[in-house]
Amino acid sequence: MSYLKTAIRAAREAGELIRRHTYEAKEVKEKSSVHDLVTEVDQAAEERIRDVLLSAHPDHAILGEEGVEAGVEASKAALEEHRVHEHLWMVDPIDGTTNFVHGFPFFCVSIGLSRREELVAGVVYDPLRDELFTAEKGKGAYLNGRPICVSAEQELSHSLVATGFPAGAKGARRVNVKGILHLSPRCRNIRAGGAAALHLAYVASGRLSGFWELDLNAWDLAAGSLLIREAGGRVSDTLGRPYDIGVRHIVATNGAVHDELLAALKESEATGYGDGLRV
Ligand code: IPD
Ligand code: CA
Ligand code: CA
Ligand code: CA
Repeated sequence: MSYLKTAIRAAREAGELIRRHTYEAKEVKEKSSVHDLVTEVDQAAEERIRDVLLSAHPDHAILGEEGVEAGVEASKAALEEHRVHEHLWMVDPIDGTTNFVHGFPFFCVSIGLSRREELVAGVVYDPLRDELFTAEKGKGAYLNGRPICVSAEQELSHSLVATGFPAGAKGARRVNVKGILHLSPRCRNIRAGGAAALHLAYVASGRLSGFWELDLNAWDLAAGSLLIREAGGRVSDTLGRPYDIGVRHIVATNGAVHDELLAALKESEATGYGDGLRV
């Protein structure tokens, strides 16, 4: 089976499980803080994804969010440990757990594969809308099998952009508010839906023209970044350096408004929080 087919099967199986439990009472635990939650469904979905991926590709490595200890330092260490593997799957079983917990219908499964650190396949699946975003390196990006491309907006002032508020690092939310205050009058409007990977898929499909957020992990970004590249967009860190799987502070756009968004973030001093975190 191709890598993409395996990823699709894993995402659909996990999505089915998530859909069944969406409007039921959940067992919710706090991880690093009250902002950082996990449920038994996140864990079961990750297990299911692991089973599907490893039964098809037993020699591949998996970096899954719920297999990693909570907190920024542990997440960074886990990536360093895993990135040496030739084939690495980066898995977020539910991106948007807070939404899932509250019954706010905006979350997804995100599965990306890198080969020698280069993204080769990615799937973002929204189980409630049954929207499957897929991409393979060099083969374009698709939504439910139909080709997608980024928006045609040429200016930030005409762009709908999105951002998010990180669960982990202290201070990150405050920095992001600075970015929002500065960006808000410069773009058409700003959304913060609470699922980074789904926002990236929306950039790839032209529903948003840009997205930025500080302090995300490889499992949030891998699949969506490939979708955007394959859909004709651009993905970088907040200083404009090209995306690689270690980037945590992300700017992702249709390409045309990228430099304008980078410049606005720089002006607002919202590109990072100067504490040594990788930007
Ligand atoms: C979170 C979501 C959220 C973002 C957080 C992420 P999770 O992922 O993507 O939108 O703001 O930074 O951690 O924990 O729901 O998988
Ligand atoms: Ca989480
Ligand atoms: Ca996530
Ligand atoms: Ca998650």
